[in-house]
Amino acid sequence: MDILCFMFISFKFLLFVEFSYAADTINSLQSLNDTSGATLISNDGTFELGFFSPGNNQNRYLGIWYKNIPVKTVVWVANRLNPINDSSGLLMINSSGNPVLMSQNTSVVWSANFTKQVSSSAVILQLLDTGNLILRDEQDGNSETNYLWQSFDYPSDTMLPGMKLGWDLRTGFERRLTSWKSPDDPSPGDFTWELEPQQNPELIMWKGSTKFFRSGPWNGLRFSGAPELRPNPVFVFSFVSNEDELYYTYNVTDNSVISRIVMNQTEYQRDRFTWSPSSQSWTVYAVVPRDRCDNYGLCGSYGVCILSESPICQCLKGFTPKSPGNVDWSQGCVRNKPLNLSTIDGFIKFQGLKLPDANHSRVNGSMNLKECGLKCSQNSSCMAYANSNVEGGGSGCTMWFGDLIDIREMTASGQDLYIRMSASELGSSDGKKKMTLVIVFTTIGVVAGLLVIILGYVIHKRRQKKTSEKTENNRETNNRNEDQQEDLELPLFELATIANATNSFSMNNKLGEGGFGPVYQGKLEDGQEIAVKRLSVISGQGLNEFKNEVILIAKLQHRNLVKLLGCCIQGEEKLLIYEFMPNKSLDNFIFDQKEGKQLDWSKRFHIICGIARGLLYLHQDSRLRIIHRDLKASNVLLDHEMNPKISDFGLARTFGGDQTEGNTKRVVGTYGYMAPEYASDGLFSVKSDVFSFGILMLEIISGIRNRGFYHPDESLNLIGYAWKLWKEGKPLELIDPVLGESCHLSEVIRCIHVSLLCVQQYPEDRPNMSSAVLMLGSDGELTEPKQPGFLMDRKLHETGTSSGKPESSSTNEITISLLEAR
Ligand SMILES: *[C@@H]1O[C@H](CO)[C@@H](O)[C@H](O)[C@H]1NC(C)=O
Ligand SMILES: *[C@@H]1O[C@H](CO)[C@@H](O)[C@H](O)[C@H]1NC(C)=O
Ligand SMILES: *[C@@H]1O[C@H](CO)[C@@H](O)[C@H](O)[C@H]1NC(C)=O
Repeated sequence: MDILCFMFISFKFLLFVEFSYAADTINSLQSLNDTSGATLISNDGTFELGFFSPGNNQNRYLGIWYKNIPVKTVVWVANRLNPINDSSGLLMINSSGNPVLMSQNTSVVWSANFTKQVSSSAVILQLLDTGNLILRDEQDGNSETNYLWQSFDYPSDTMLPGMKLGWDLRTGFERRLTSWKSPDDPSPGDFTWELEPQQNPELIMWKGSTKFFRSGPWNGLRFSGAPELRPNPVFVFSFVSNEDELYYTYNVTDNSVISRIVMNQTEYQRDRFTWSPSSQSWTVYAVVPRDRCDNYGLCGSYGVCILSESPICQCLKGFTPKSPGNVDWSQGCVRNKPLNLSTIDGFIKFQGLKLPDANHSRVNGSMNLKECGLKCSQNSSCMAYANSNVEGGGSGCTMWFGDLIDIREMTASGQDLYIRMSASELGSSDGKKKMTLVIVFTTIGVVAGLLVIILGYVIHKRRQKKTSEKTENNRETNNRNEDQQEDLELPLFELATIANATNSFSMNNKLGEGGFGPVYQGKLEDGQEIAVKRLSVISGQGLNEFKNEVILIAKLQHRNLVKLLGCCIQGEEKLLIYEFMPNKSLDNFIFDQKEGKQLDWSKRFHIICGIARGLLYLHQDSRLRIIHRDLKASNVLLDHEMNPKISDFGLARTFGGDQTEGNTKRVVGTYGYMAPEYASDGLFSVKSDVFSFGILMLEIISGIRNRGFYHPDESLNLIGYAWKLWKEGKPLELIDPVLGESCHLSEVIRCIHVSLLCVQQYPEDRPNMSSAVLMLGSDGELTEPKQPGFLMDRKLHETGTSSGKPESSSTNEITISLLEAR
């Protein structure tokens, strides 16, 4: 038990009593005395406040340390500047409510010195479980806004979870870490770790008044140069920037994890430690600076530090060393070709960098990258720009004014930076260089802007048309050029981000093989689950389809369509990033006896209606008219509530408002779902999608694959079988037995009826999707179906992909994409 003495102090304390005491608070009538060894212990026993003498130092300090670990680790010191040179320390609350620390000769060595108004006479000093020593009015609740004073506002060299590093902008009050002079001396050392309150804030490690390391600006997820801050299961990091406050803080997700950040003078580094219960010691979780490239400004302006290079300092492309042959790189690099400092200058994109010193940078969160480039090109002192936020493919605008310094390569988590270059430099960098030219048009006025957009659209359309007539090679090149112009309109992801999210496309993350390549499951840094479609690199057609898919889908938003989150085009890699659908695709359910039970009739009907609405949106309601061309069970995904979402628009084509038919040389789709006119003549229209929808409905009702179905007597496919039963007046025999009691018979019969109308031989006999949706949703009279198309599983084309033989129901469907022989 700890002892607390009541001291007689002139004004307030009248008694001198001794009593046993162990608690987390003291009040105005009590005090903490070094001679008695009294301490204050947080409620849960994690932290302890008391007097200590570090190492060989004989002086006494009032401090907070961990109570529950064997290695004495001090996290806060009150009187770092004024040690007590004997053991006479006495902490008490004075008449004005301030905790004061006094030494023997009753001189005040430290005082909390708060400025808030106290409403009642009684104040309480309390050590919280977080390690925060707080002072509060006895009558006020224990919430942060009520604190009169808190030690978290006056950090020593340690940042505990929940502490804020940064600024109260209302009062100009700052919280920063200052190292101890040495392990024996808690007085402030040379090193500080603080948040620079500039327009584009970043954490800076100062050695005296020299920048030693900078974290890079906050990019929405982390500080640009601090990859260890990526979201992880142990820590949550946050950065708050508003009118009142600007700070960085972190917390542990699991309270049993003991963690601290320390600015260490002797090691010249800032360590993040966690306590290891097994080894009973502190382990270093992360350190900055991590390596030589983290040394501030090592390579000078326009130099880039690349660890794997020798020397590690290199000039950015388009720059040469200012003093060649000099080993001191701090001189930096100069331009090969001087800038015109006018709007003729362009920008070259550099990838995978820690963004330069943000000291002279400006941020505007509401501008996009294009606007950012335009704005930057208009101001001759703007030397570079980048997205200010990398979340969700990038947004916002940061512009740098003046020379760019402290750039390093960060392969895994670096960012794109667009650096101003003279027009002649732009001209000399040919397309093979791994740089994207961003040509900035500076047109003034909305009319001019509009004209450019319209012109661009027309050219794009014509190119598309031309492209399809050219050889594969030409098509590729053409597309590349287009890629570069369109890049900025698309939500773009870094390849590294996606590789990270998918465990480098590991087999364990693979969800399946889609039409144009494998699909992987992944998780972004912000925790969002994604599905990544990795386009197979060899396929030229894949590239073409890819472009379509990205441009189209990004514009399409409907609750029955899978949402495209973004894409990634980097080198040979072409990736599409979709929202992740936890329940995978419809075929996993309806064609599986066991899983099929999860979908009773009402769910199936809900799915049918959802698909119909999604398709209707594609055909009619979206701004563009989209024909899916490959609608099938495996292209209908299910979210966690079993809501259907149509996926894979890669094959969809854009049409003008009134054009609903097309003739294509290229037949793309899946046998078994293709309308007769499409499979045989390449004629597709919204009605060919209706045909596929009809088949899909039959499959959902029967649990049988159209292609996999084999009737013992005749070589009928599912359509043929359904038609036969319909004619014989026993359509209910088609129903999947697992549906059992759940069926709403009139609804089922109506669905069968509608599907037979959808799979009519001739497009004109099929309803369009809006009628189909109406038919499904009402009790109105329906026309009697005629004999449908494709009753037989007939042999198709000379491709050899279809043998005409029935396939087992486990056979995976393969999406076919071929140039039809003419
Ligand atoms: C308390 O604060 C006032 C004003 O902020 C200052 O003048 C005074 O020196 C401080 N006293 C101590 C002991 O820090
Ligand atoms: C940010 O950019 C938008 C759009 O260009 C502009 O309207 C706004 O005034 C800018 N904000 C600042 C603070 O410059
Ligand atoms: C360029 O931007 C800087 C920083 O915002 C500003 O001080 C300067 O006035 C601008 N120059 C022009 C010509 O707009």
